[in-house]
Amino acid sequence: MSKLLVTGRKKLGGETYVQGAKNSALPVLAATILTKGENVIYNCPDLSDIEASARILRYLGCKVSRSGSTVLVNCDTIDKYDIPDELMRKTRSSIIFLGAILARTGRAKMSFPGGCEIGLRPIDMHLKALREMGADIREKHGYLDCTAPKGLKGNKISLSFPSVGATEDIMIAACLADGTTTITNAAREPEICDLADFLNKCGAKIYGAGEGVVVIEGVKSLSPTSHSIIPDRIVCATLMACAAVTGSKIILDGVICSHLASVIPVFEDAGCKIRCCNGTLEFTAPEKLKAMKTVRTMPYPGFPTDAQAPLLAVSCIADGTTVFVENIFENRYRHTGELIRMGANIKTVGKVAVVEGVKSLYGAPVEATDLRGAAALVVAGLSAESQTEISGVRYLERGYENLELTLSALGADIKKI
Ligand code: EPZ
Repeated sequence: MSKLLVTGRKKLGGETYVQGAKNSALPVLAATILTKGENVIYNCPDLSDIEASARILRYLGCKVSRSGSTVLVNCDTIDKYDIPDELMRKTRSSIIFLGAILARTGRAKMSFPGGCEIGLRPIDMHLKALREMGADIREKHGYLDCTAPKGLKGNKISLSFPSVGATEDIMIAACLADGTTTITNAAREPEICDLADFLNKCGAKIYGAGEGVVVIEGVKSLSPTSHSIIPDRIVCATLMACAAVTGSKIILDGVICSHLASVIPVFEDAGCKIRCCNGTLEFTAPEKLKAMKTVRTMPYPGFPTDAQAPLLAVSCIADGTTVFVENIFENRYRHTGELIRMGANIKTVGKVAVVEGVKSLYGAPVEATDLRGAAALVVAGLSAESQTEISGVRYLERGYENLELTLSALGADIKKI
């Protein structure tokens, strides 16, 4: 099991390119199932979650190859409709394949995606919507067995919560459905828009992505296309957090600043200076960070839940008290225990975390237990006196492409052992 060794308090400097968005590439890869022929996906990050999706596509009969950040996917022949348990468990976001397999083959069988470290991750909204589109879904012995022999039918779907995954699953399923599907209370994340852009380039008719109501007019078939994945706004926020805790000035390239509209003000509250101009974000941290105001995670365009952990790590050494309210997932403070081992002063009660800034953290052996919690520990390690040893690096590799190489290129003392 690899570990990360971080020796903190090194200033960062220089410029780096932000990787493509994991949470856009995953649904786009699933959506290629609707096409016959070769799709070219540019700016696709090289991550274990992406590799897990490629394994599922290959199992189904698709050809998937990568050269650098370009991934080729050809789904000419799909000769299966099930996802084996061991592939399903690799990443719970595999539920996004349900609508795609059902729309392509009329059948889909997969195990219930397990919960994960940050919560139960129910899929009730996915199943309710697909049933409303005519799918017959049986749930037994932990398996979902779905059929839609006469294909899926467009319908009016109203989501009780703007679920990102459910919105994506329905959008994909609705592209080849008979008739029009309307999703009310749809998620508005930039990754939803990127998926809609990909599907519309394939010939789909999706209107209103990024707003609360999305309309999908079913078409007969889709053809493959080439598409470049949007930059990863959470990786960008994480690199900003690394610069914030080391009093550094860095430049991030390939950024869409509007995707960070709810994150930038939080860093500015802490005294950071941020300048955006056509795809480049210039970040300058103050010598001493001020406490941010209350940070509430919300569906987009609110503050993203995925940025909560890295920003909470920043607040640990800010001057004053910061309050976090985690409104999206029920168990997303697991990193706080490890941060306390590094000298942080954090109290969590339910979905609220109160962070009293301390002068500095000190290095310690810590354990990551989820993807963004792992990122928080890297941020904390960069700020701490002496050395921090982080285990559970496999969690980090799910969402960050060679983060330790990126950070050492910016001047951090960090290595994987
Ligand atoms: C996506 O997860 C992202 N993952 C998550 O990123 C992100 O945190 C989340 O959206 C919120 O932005 C991918 O895109 C692969 P949801 P998803 O459905 O789709 C509840 C990361 O770190 N819910 O919007 O699973 C659910 O339990 C990951 O990159 C239901 O109750 O998120 C949660 O409380 C973590 N029933 C809330 O909705 C359902 O059927 C939001 O979930 C579906 C969801």
